[in-house]
Amino acid sequence: MCGIFGMIGKNAVGNTLTALKLLEYRGYDSAGIAAKRNGHIDVYKTEGRIAALAKIVQGAEETDMAIGHTRWATHGAVCTQNAHPFLSRDGRFAIVHNGIIENYKQLKQTLPSVDFGSQTDSETVAHLLAREYRGDALQAVLTVARLLKGSFAIAIVCVETRTIYAVKNKSPLVVGLSESGAYLCSDVRCISRFAQRVAVAPDNTVVELSAREAKFYDFFGKEKETDFFTADRFDEAENAEGDFMLKEIFEIPEKLLCALDGYKQSDGLQLGRFTVNALKRIYLIGCGTAYNSGLQAAAVARKWLDLDVLPVIASEFLYDNYPVDDNTLAFLISQSGETADTVRAAERVRERGGKTYAVTNTRSSSLTFVCEHTVNIFAGSEYAVASTKAYNCQLEVLTLLLADIAFARGVLSQSRRSELLDELAALPDAVQGILDDCSSLARVAEQIKNCSAVFYIGRTADYPIACEGSLKLKEISYIHSEAYPAGELKHGTLALMEPTVAVVAISTQSELADKTASSVIEVASRGAKVIAVSPRLFDNALSVKLPRLSPETSGIVSVVPLQLLAYYTAKSLGRDVDKPRHLAKSVTVE
Ligand code: G6P
Repeated sequence: MCGIFGMIGKNAVGNTLTALKLLEYRGYDSAGIAAKRNGHIDVYKTEGRIAALAKIVQGAEETDMAIGHTRWATHGAVCTQNAHPFLSRDGRFAIVHNGIIENYKQLKQTLPSVDFGSQTDSETVAHLLAREYRGDALQAVLTVARLLKGSFAIAIVCVETRTIYAVKNKSPLVVGLSESGAYLCSDVRCISRFAQRVAVAPDNTVVELSAREAKFYDFFGKEKETDFFTADRFDEAENAEGDFMLKEIFEIPEKLLCALDGYKQSDGLQLGRFTVNALKRIYLIGCGTAYNSGLQAAAVARKWLDLDVLPVIASEFLYDNYPVDDNTLAFLISQSGETADTVRAAERVRERGGKTYAVTNTRSSSLTFVCEHTVNIFAGSEYAVASTKAYNCQLEVLTLLLADIAFARGVLSQSRRSELLDELAALPDAVQGILDDCSSLARVAEQIKNCSAVFYIGRTADYPIACEGSLKLKEISYIHSEAYPAGELKHGTLALMEPTVAVVAISTQSELADKTASSVIEVASRGAKVIAVSPRLFDNALSVKLPRLSPETSGIVSVVPLQLLAYYTAKSLGRDVDKPRHLAKSVTVE
């Protein structure tokens, strides 16, 4: 899992560095660039962020052909040795790779005389290319492509040619052409900075990129037709000041309005009444925060819908036997649209005849090409690894989609649907109220920052919010954290309560508040610090006040104090809030 970029055109080194900065969300433990100059290839690489690489390439002579890589380690530790690009021993080829070469051990055995310089699977590809080269670089690339198993997007430069080659299977690869040059890259958001005419390379493809054109082949050298389209321009914020996470939380009110307006102006649910009535089950599939938004949306939909609404973690969906038939509808939820498990899950649903909707923030992402329909969440670009505003917008859009299904099935009245739209329109103000009082969350963060563990509890529709609050905290503060349905605490976790532990109790439903009050007393009497996030006050607990909202919409708002709490806790502990250790913004390997 990593980001790759390659280009032929002016200032290739400087532009590759810019591109890698945009791809850093895919991994940021090491990075490198290979620049082709007058019959040789120079490699610059280092452990650390792109900023560290920038120092190394500073002052390097410019050129017109380069490939680059930003890494999230899978095979081999984080170190300069394992950073990409890799050169073949004869110096003829340099490669960068995103994905996993699953048969690399067998392939390595076929290269007994090669002294490998890294522990990676990727390096094998460079040496195989050198071995297979018989004076025709494209033929060598095709031969090696046929040997590889796994998921890969590989960019290759060869000292002998004015061409960049790429090999693609199951890892994203986008090709772009413009007046200024030819490009290939892991994602459309990055490439759109350089070229608007883009094509998504299909699986099992070799790309031959020259300064003016791109040719696509299958692994046997037969040319493939591939359509180019005009990519959206994405907003660029790579030079913004301050932490992206806080900036993105503060954008929530505006983005909720965009999501609502965008949904109203879109085609919404493109399924006819007959199809909707025939539905047997709905899956809400995603990973991380995107999964949590599905968990919450399912809790909301259970209030209306008369069929199974099942949230499933994408990687679990792939390896378990969830039923799918043509009366199955799946919402595939992904901010980036590039998360490998989610994309694979979408493929699985389609293969088995189910209907697929991508619910995403990134048009023209891999997921949108796999799903039949796409619903944009209009959250705008997210740069912080910990997803925030996308969660609120995903939840808003899923609520609208599920309400439309309930309405079409006749189980949600026209008047309740209209009320719901009014309630959603009022949420930005409710969120703004919480943001205006963010300093109180900074104070609560001081209370929990030295805790050994923080547990988040909630009942029914508050439980998914607890999950998301807990995920946010552990991702960026590294404090151990778990979420539980409040009633479940006493079946084991109560044993862990002591003064170094904090419990965040979320309670938005008045009919369940007394039950939550009992849980608060149970944990407080065992010495835990309690923070109650609720419209009402609880004894024995520090209060984080929420506005009173309908049960269908409150989750969109009640998560905001938890996002802020995680931010301020991590900040107070001196963590790198936007780029937490070991993580990446989207995980593009299964
Ligand atoms: C990674 C990120 C999470 C994110 C998840 C799903 O694990 O660290 O913040 O929620 O991927 O990403 P997606 O782009 O599919 O929503």
